Amino acid sequence: MKLFDVYPLFDIELVKAEGSYLWDKNGEKYLDLYGGHAVISIGHSHPTYVQKLSQQLNEIGFYSNSIKIKLQEELANKLGELSGYLDYQLFLCNSGAEANENALKLASFHTNKKKVIAFGKSFHGRTSLAVAATDDKKIIAPVNETANISFLPLNDEHALEQAMNEEICAVIVEGIQGVGGVNIPTNSFLKKCKSLCKQYGALLILDEIQSGYGRSGQFFAHQYAGIQPDLITVAKGMGNGFPVAGVLIHPGIEAKHGLLGTTFGGNYLACAAAIAVLDVLKKEQLVNNAMEMGNYLITELEKITGIKEVRGLGLMIGIELEFPCAAIRNKLLQEHKIFTGSSSNKNTLRILPALNIKKEELDSFLAAFKYELKNQSIK
Ligand SMILES: Cc1ncc(COP(=O)(O)O)c(C=O)c1O
Repeated sequence: MKLFDVYPLFDIELVKAEGSYLWDKNGEKYLDLYGGHAVISIGHSHPTYVQKLSQQLNEIGFYSNSIKIKLQEELANKLGELSGYLDYQLFLCNSGAEANENALKLASFHTNKKKVIAFGKSFHGRTSLAVAATDDKKIIAPVNETANISFLPLNDEHALEQAMNEEICAVIVEGIQGVGGVNIPTNSFLKKCKSLCKQYGALLILDEIQSGYGRSGQFFAHQYAGIQPDLITVAKGMGNGFPVAGVLIHPGIEAKHGLLGTTFGGNYLACAAAIAVLDVLKKEQLVNNAMEMGNYLITELEKITGIKEVRGLGLMIGIELEFPCAAIRNKLLQEHKIFTGSSSNKNTLRILPALNIKKEELDSFLAAFKYELKNQSIK
């Protein structure tokens, strides 16, 4: 059987990973500033993570959500403590799209309404509602098309005021837009989202799938704005590569048996991975490191001439050039052995390293990037 060919692939076969480094089958070493798309939070093969998952696998790997899984409670308590959302409830699932799908459903169940506001350049995943709330016509199949979702420009408070009404069940916004090219909602805009949702009886959903789990230098990017959303979705960094996701749910939203459900969500292995991530984030103070290293990288990037704009918070950074970044990205990978990310904005390179990246590692990237930017600018 052949693989369904939906991904453009680099011809690289990785066989080993540690910290912020990867090795291919020929022994070539790579610096990872992409984290497999913002997934690697505590670094590859962290010993605490490897130990916790291996031990769990030897004890029990899976049973269904028909029995009590203590690890789920431990995970919920640790996540509540580290994120500052101790009084929220946690629904566990398997992927970012699924988390948003469930958050949107829950908003609709809770309010008994069906209109949703999403924003330009958003990406919320590929399942039916999540993709319908994604601003990319190419990935919305005819069956996903719905008149229930409308798109507004990000950070346009006036447009939001005009569009809000009693029929809206949810406003969904990314803590920082990732796929769209690292676009940051302003604090004032997020506050406006919150107050208008309250006024019109809608729920505010913060998609922190990429920007959450410490990446922005706060546990959640929306915490810079000092707001509390009704629903927060998490995935990516939550499991450091193990598929696990969740919805943090305001205490005022009531659960009912059968309202939501999943076979694999919250299984023993997923919980073990997610607990190991939280333990390491806390012990090694990685949210602070993300803030410090991110500030350092942004400051150094801002000194470089030839960049149109540097956008970012913590270790979620977009470098917008005056021209498409694909050639530089390829050179960084092929010649300097550095992985970086692209975005739907062709000119924007995305930097999404592990949260325990070191200054020397960022310096290697800066040197390589400056060299390639100069070469490309001369062409
Ligand atoms: C902000 C955001 N939401 C949702 C998703 C979808 O997550 P998943 O690919 O795990 O379904 C992504 C993935 O890139 C994302 O960046």
